[in-house]
Amino acid sequence: MSGAGGMPGAGGMPGAGGMPGAGGMSGAGGMDSRWQHGGMRSDDLRAVEWAGAAIRLIDQRLLPVRLAYLNIDDVDALVEAVRGLAVRGAPALGAVGALGVVVAMRQGRRQGWSADRLAVEIDKVRRARPTAVNLAWGVDRVLPLVAGGTPAGQDAVLSAALELIAEDEAGNHEIGRLGADWILARVSRRPVRVLTHCNAGFLATCGWGTALGVVRELHARGALEVVYADETRPLLQGSRLTAWELAADAIPHFVQADAAAASTIVGGLVDVAIIGADRVAANGDIANKVGSLGVALACQDAGIPFVVAAPESTLDPATATGADIQVELRDGEEVLCVGGVRVAPEGSRGFNPAFDVTPARLVTALVTQARVLEVSAGQLP
Ligand code: MRU
Repeated sequence: MSGAGGMPGAGGMPGAGGMPGAGGMSGAGGMDSRWQHGGMRSDDLRAVEWAGAAIRLIDQRLLPVRLAYLNIDDVDALVEAVRGLAVRGAPALGAVGALGVVVAMRQGRRQGWSADRLAVEIDKVRRARPTAVNLAWGVDRVLPLVAGGTPAGQDAVLSAALELIAEDEAGNHEIGRLGADWILARVSRRPVRVLTHCNAGFLATCGWGTALGVVRELHARGALEVVYADETRPLLQGSRLTAWELAADAIPHFVQADAAAASTIVGGLVDVAIIGADRVAANGDIANKVGSLGVALACQDAGIPFVVAAPESTLDPATATGADIQVELRDGEEVLCVGGVRVAPEGSRGFNPAFDVTPARLVTALVTQARVLEVSAGQLP
């Protein structure tokens, strides 16, 4: 188990939960001033990596104040990092699932676990968060290679996890190209004005991003005017993470309150909304960060496309409809506080569903690395 030496201080940390416990984590870097001075592009960074003997994560709870890393080499610390949103976003969680099996196997060999104990620990990783299908998908993809936890099994699982990571990043570039092609064929205004919700950028994936991959591609083609980034209460993935990514790549953007999204869309300031997804049901219903449904309803009213960008790994044919998707209910304190400061009276309770489900009839297009499905027109995954 690694020590906790070198962890960055918590000063300025946004209200995304407390600091992780020290078990199994070590800080691997402090503030990176190059970021603040614009010397680094988001394409240089990875949210999830294998660091030789541990999983290496950008600690997303600290952004944008501080760019710091966690090295994690035990299961409980990894589960805590996932639940506390040090790492988040469906495709990034797929990588965590696959690499999490390596972490469990290595810990099992250090601590002499039985095969049954190893299976229990891997299952903890698989169940750390319920809504994004990619977490379980990442575990399940490498599970057949475990081979009782042998060194050969460990090597095979690690290779498969690294392959999954490379595939996700390559797939995101393809999502970007397909999504940009579809939008430029469908939207007549130039340059295009985009709204996005939450963070579906490199931080939420193994690189480049899904919804932000499309935004980056539009920008690279000289076809993007501006992005309206919803701040995404309660944990501010939009203002803390999406805006941080856009600023790094010098992509013009506004951060707006979630409550502004409907009037921005209906008022004609936006040509297309592009979001990511945490799970796509067989009937085309889509779970994504809470607030996505309101964006979709406003797009329908305004007659503009509502586009969902996600890898094929987020499609879940085993879930029949959105009603069957388990929406994570998080601690009400996250809603009652801003930046760690309580803003609601003592005695108020917080209601904190982390996701909502947008029905297929509101999803104009679902863009994966393989295809574009016009879901509301009846093309189902
Ligand atoms: O709770 P999070 O931050 O893990 O939720 C992630 C999202 O809902 C993202 O918006 C995203 O679209 C899905 S992952 C690319």
